[in-house]
This record gives sequence, C-alpha cells and structure tokens, in this order.
Amino acid sequence: MSTRPRISTRISAISESATLAVDAKAKAMKAAGRPVIGFGAGEPDFPTPDYIVEAAVAAAHEPRFHKYTPAGGLPELKKAIAAKTLRDSGYQVDASQVLVTNGGKQAVYQAFATLLDPGDEVLVIAPYWTTYPEAIKLAGGVQVDVVTDETTGYLASVEQLEAARTERTKVLLFVSPSNPTGAVYSREQTEAIGRWAAANDLWVVTDEIYEHLVYGGTEFTSIATAVPELGDRVVILNGVAKTYAMTGWRVGWLIGPSDVVKAATNLQSHATSNVSNVAQMAALAAVSGDLSAVAEMREAFDRRRQTMVRMLNEIPGVLCPEPKGAFYVYPSVKELIGKELRGRRPQSSAELAELILEEAEVAVVPGEAFGTPGYFRLSYALGDDDLAEGVSRLAKLLAEAH
Ligand SMILES: Cc1ncc(COP(=O)(O)O)c(C=O)c1O
Repeated sequence: MSTRPRISTRISAISESATLAVDAKAKAMKAAGRPVIGFGAGEPDFPTPDYIVEAAVAAAHEPRFHKYTPAGGLPELKKAIAAKTLRDSGYQVDASQVLVTNGGKQAVYQAFATLLDPGDEVLVIAPYWTTYPEAIKLAGGVQVDVVTDETTGYLASVEQLEAARTERTKVLLFVSPSNPTGAVYSREQTEAIGRWAAANDLWVVTDEIYEHLVYGGTEFTSIATAVPELGDRVVILNGVAKTYAMTGWRVGWLIGPSDVVKAATNLQSHATSNVSNVAQMAALAAVSGDLSAVAEMREAFDRRRQTMVRMLNEIPGVLCPEPKGAFYVYPSVKELIGKELRGRRPQSSAELAELILEEAEVAVVPGEAFGTPGYFRLSYALGDDDLAEGVSRLAKLLAEAH
C-alpha cells in the first residue's frame, strides 16, 4: 500500500472558510425548522438592480457570448473598469492593465500567486479577512501579522508596520474599508502608510471592494491615487459583489502594471479562462451605470450600523467601536470569556459563538476566523427587524453571564 498522503501537503494545509462554516451551520439549523438569525453572511440582502439583470438576459440571447472570449476579460468591460476606476478613484489606467476575474476572490489568489516567491513576506493587518492567509500560503508566501485592536479602531500605524518589516518583506496588504472591522483609513493615514511602503520599495496590494460603503462623512481614499510615489508597484483588487449586490454573479478584477497583469492573465488562462460572458455583461451594465443603487443600500446599512452599535454597547461585557465602512461590526467580547453561561464556561470566542448559536439561535463569526480571538464579527447586511431581534436575543442571553 502506498504511504504517500492522499491529499497534497499544500492543499491539506488549507482551512475551511470559518465564515462559510458558521453560515452553513446556521442554514442547516434553519432548514431543521429552528428560527436562526444569521449575522454571518458577507453579502447585501438586496437583489441585483433590474437594469443589470436585464443586460445579462440580453447577453444570454447573443450567440457570440455562447463561445469562449479572451481569458483576461471582454475588451468592452476592461475599458469600462478602467473608466470607472478613473471616475471613483481618480486613478488612470489603460484597459490592458485590467484582468477580469471570477469574483474578487480569484483576484486575491492571482495577485499573490503572481507576486510572491517562496519565503517572501506579506504584512497583513489583523483582524484580516479569512481568505488572505490561504492565498498567501498557497503562493508560498509568509504572512506577518500586524495586530490591531479596538483601542485604535483597528487601524495600524506606520510604526507598527515598520516594526514588522524585514529584509524579506515584499508586499503590504492594505484593505480600507476593512472586512471584518469596518475600519477606514483617513487620507492622511493612507498617505503616511503609502509613503512608508514606497520608501521601503514594497509592493502594495490594496483591496477596494468596499469603496462605496462608507458612512457618516467618511471618505474612501485609494492608496494608488493618494501616493503617486508607489509608482507601478500597486495592485488593486475590486469587484461588483458588494457595490451592486452581485455576490452570486462572480465578477471581480485586478488592476496592476502590465507585466503583472500579463502574468496573472497567463495563470488565469490555464485555471479558469474567461469569466462567464453573461456575468461579464451584467458587470458591464453595473460599472458603466450610475451609483444610485449603492446610495440606497448605503442609507439602509448606515441606519442598521447605528442601531447595531448602540444595542451592542448596551450589553455588559461587549465593547463595540463604531465602524466607518463595509457592513460589519467587530465588538470585543473578551470580558465574557470564562464567565458562566447556562451551565457552561466558554474559554474562547469560538466556544462562546457556539453556545450563542445553540442557546439563542443567533449566528455570529468568532474572531478566531480573522486572526484575533476575543471578538465577534456581525454583519449588518440583514433586514432591520431581524437585526433588532437578533441583537435582543444576544443581549438577553449574555445578560445571564456571571
Ligand atoms: C475584503 C474582501 N475582498 C474580496 C472579497 C471577494 O468578493 P467576491 O469574490 O465575492 O467578489 C470579499 C468578500 O467577502 C471581501 O470581504
């Protein structure tokens, strides 16, 4: 019998997505008839706007879209993404610097696969989105965490980044607004970090997928535009998922210097080829249309954000900074760890989240998923009534902790 492992070492090192795992458990309980309220999902609760859906229907009827198209994306979509980037970020790129991917996720994978050699270090500000570590690891890269907490609103300083930099550091991953914390760097903070990266010859991979979801006068700043000194060592990741309520359509993109985009396109040509043409035509309608749909969503999210922060901060033991962007809150629950609750004594945020799901039928994602135990991530992309009911259940249960 072969002693070789059935699954390669590289792939068996990949962990299951913790956010999807919580979501799956909540959905299974729901299917079994239990009234679970889920704060786990990272997607808007709105349907995709009609004009976008109609563009997809029209595309499905066109025989040219029944065939393979260029692996890197439809030329008209690449052009529209370049125009949209100039409109929203003031960043000038040519259509040849755009690669259309199967969602922002594929852009994340391909960016790291294209930039990293084994042993290259990537500075990752924690708490971080669960997919980054796996993408970095698969590329042979080494993740170096720069840990932040609620006392700074989860923002990292240049001093912290400098302390984590070594001779092997190649890339800084910069995500603003952030998943899971909703933190948004100001223009000044973005410039300071960008200039530091440029001065140290680092690449910046910046994930701008939540660019349009900022609240209360907060402004989104693209590090690519704010710091011209970075030159061509910037890779922007983005997509239609969050801005246009299009998570299921799977269209994202990567923007970078031509050599990086060409290399990443070669990779994609062997991995997946072109993104579904129907989805690309839907994305074309989205990015070349106006931003009124996201303005409506933003209003609803802002209202829910305020309700959520207020209600969570009223719970003893919960400390919730006000997020400035995306659609997540990231409260600390450190004070509740180790306390007795319904005859149990959860020793971690993961155990506490499990107890909450069982006892209050409320699903939250524990901070372990984002590199910082002691916290929960709750998405506020769910209906107002569910949101209020879910947090009330949480408050009632957690009030019993002693
Ligand atoms: C920070 C961040 N980047 C990228 C993505 C990828 O989105 P998608 O692959 O759905 O386009 C997500 C999705 O949750 C995200 O939160």
